[in-house]
Amino acid sequence: MAVILAGGIGVRVGLGIPKQLIKIAGKAIVEHTLEVMNASGVIDEIIIVMNAGAIDQLTSLQNDERFPKLTRIIPGGETRNDSTQAALAALDDDPNTKVLFHDAVRPFVNERILDECVEALDHYEAVDTAIPSADTIIQVDSASHITAIPNRSVLRRGQTPQAFRLGTIRRAYALANEDKTFHATDDCGVVFTYLPDTPIFVVDGTPENMKVTEPIDVHIADKLFQLQSASLASDVAMPDLTGKVVVVFGGSYGI
Ligand code: CTP
Repeated sequence: MAVILAGGIGVRVGLGIPKQLIKIAGKAIVEHTLEVMNASGVIDEIIIVMNAGAIDQLTSLQNDERFPKLTRIIPGGETRNDSTQAALAALDDDPNTKVLFHDAVRPFVNERILDECVEALDHYEAVDTAIPSADTIIQVDSASHITAIPNRSVLRRGQTPQAFRLGTIRRAYALANEDKTFHATDDCGVVFTYLPDTPIFVVDGTPENMKVTEPIDVHIADKLFQLQSASLASDVAMPDLTGKVVVVFGGSYGI
């Protein structure tokens, strides 16, 4: 079971429509993401949690015979955690169900990541996806003074999917909802805080599995789709961009 989280607005991208509806390479970002999930051999059913104000714009996906695994599109909540909880309320009662949450705006998730997340749930109750950080991460205080520089080798940048046994993620949210100070930006954070004895396994993500967050990410995603279709057309694997410098619209980015 997979949940595509598309309940957000995309204020930082700032195009005036929910960013998951931005068309890149001829399709809305959420549709690209749905294609990857629908093609996965380890996912049997998909729910999209959509921004309530724009839910009508996905009706065509629900009736699209290319996506037989998409069973429901339900309205999201005010925060990402609220959208996760909307999905949890809509799922079955079996605590052993494997559920995978993925950001709609990470369309470059791949089959290997999905396989490894689902497989890891045979051994763990909670699974995250992450990559090493190329940048040094610094901690600052409200006066913009550095307060810590954690050792980069033990730091990772969290991505999605995040996968759970249904009973475990429900238990974590039940405890979080009793805590008035509850704040998290992802779902593994809820398990980490409220079920601290639960080990969370980390699957290797990829640099391409970026989250479209800032305006520049729309351009990078566009370029990545171009590379993807060029490699499909030539039947050559998409190059591994890790550590390479790619020129996008005249600017240089390290990916
Ligand atoms: N999300 C969600 N429900 C919310 C907020 C976010 O399902 N209430 C989803 C987004 O649609 C996105 C993912 O969570 O697929 C990651 O969130 P983020 O990048 O923070 O998206 P937005 O909240 O849309 O972005 P912004 O903060 O710029 O408005």
